[in-house]
Amino acid sequence: MPRQIVLASRPTGWPTAANFALTEADQPDLADGQIRVRNLFMSVDPYMRGRMNDAESYVPPFRLDQPLEGGAIGTVIESRSPELTAGDLVLHMLGWRDEAVLPARQARKVAVAAGLSPSAYLGVLGMPTLTAYVGLLDIASLKADDTVFVSGAAGAVGSMAGQIAKLKGAARVIGSAGGDEKVRWLREIGFDVAFNYRAGSVVEQLRAAAPGGIDVYFDNVGSDHLDAALVILNNHGRVAMSGAIAHYNVTEPPVGPSNLGLVITKRLTLRGFIVTDHQHRMPDMIADVSAWLRDGKLSHAETVVDGLEHAPEAFIDLLRGANTGKMIVRL
Ligand SMILES: NC(=O)c1ccc[n+]([C@@H]2O[C@H](COP(=O)([O-])OP(=O)(O)OC[C@H]3O[C@@H](n4cnc5c(N)ncnc54)[C@H](OP(=O)(O)O)[C@@H]3O)[C@@H](O)[C@H]2O)c1
Repeated sequence: MPRQIVLASRPTGWPTAANFALTEADQPDLADGQIRVRNLFMSVDPYMRGRMNDAESYVPPFRLDQPLEGGAIGTVIESRSPELTAGDLVLHMLGWRDEAVLPARQARKVAVAAGLSPSAYLGVLGMPTLTAYVGLLDIASLKADDTVFVSGAAGAVGSMAGQIAKLKGAARVIGSAGGDEKVRWLREIGFDVAFNYRAGSVVEQLRAAAPGGIDVYFDNVGSDHLDAALVILNNHGRVAMSGAIAHYNVTEPPVGPSNLGLVITKRLTLRGFIVTDHQHRMPDMIADVSAWLRDGKLSHAETVVDGLEHAPEAFIDLLRGANTGKMIVRL
């Protein structure tokens, strides 16, 4: 029988293994227009933590005792749609299960580019890179010669944001991450400076890394990182507010940033965005990223965990920072 991971209980603070359960799934007959997909890879992403709360947001909460959902890629094994046939590789949103049954129109057929794993469509050629691309180019209006600071820089979104900034002409790119190994990797993939936020004050390390200040901040973290960026931003600086992962597991309202008055005195622009509103930019992102990959100008990493039964662990580890690049579960 195919298996699935259901939400057994809603986490309070940090999720634990007890919030998840592995159960057997039904194998319904297909209705007209549906396909059955054997999932090969599934994504775990920080936004899923928000969907585990019983609170309305830009996506509805996950339902208790129902399978979780999220990006996945797999092979069509049965089709009652003229649009797709058995053997097609498709991207869709019914991860967290061995097999998915869904309308063919909710799946996107992909042809895997030479040298890439199908999992690339969950990472370097997928939603995280689109987030980096749109955040930098459309939300923060990156200009050549900007100095850019990216937090969460060794993750899926951050590692792309820093490299795309360089490839689009930024003068200097600074990244922060939670360990010395990640900092070394950031230097290898082209960040001009990187620092370990666990090793000292964020604001002091950022000040040392950016003697001329920063023009753009790509915020994946919020909290102390946003506070520090507001101090170091130059007048008329721009902030793309992508995420606030430091807040996702807190049980008390997060402290700070305590210095929002700087937005006024420095005439800053802070703008939040949700990647799903920017799907029209996917072809531009894919075109740019495919060319950079082909020319060896863009590096990408995946941290791969094996087995559906380990998906909850992979998700919790992602929140704790066990990943470099995109966290992926191979099914
Ligand atoms: N706006 C959108 O549409 C959109 C779309 C996708 C993602 N996002 C956001 O983008 C951010 C990154 O997502 P991702 O998928 O690329 O995940 P990721 O960066 O690959 O993984 C999460 C990383 O967050 C870091 N982290 C965890 N707690 C932290 C803390 N308290 N302070 C600083 N860093 C912390 C960890 O790395 P360290 O080892 O460095 O701590 C961890 O590896 C998240 O905030 C996410 O919500 C937004």
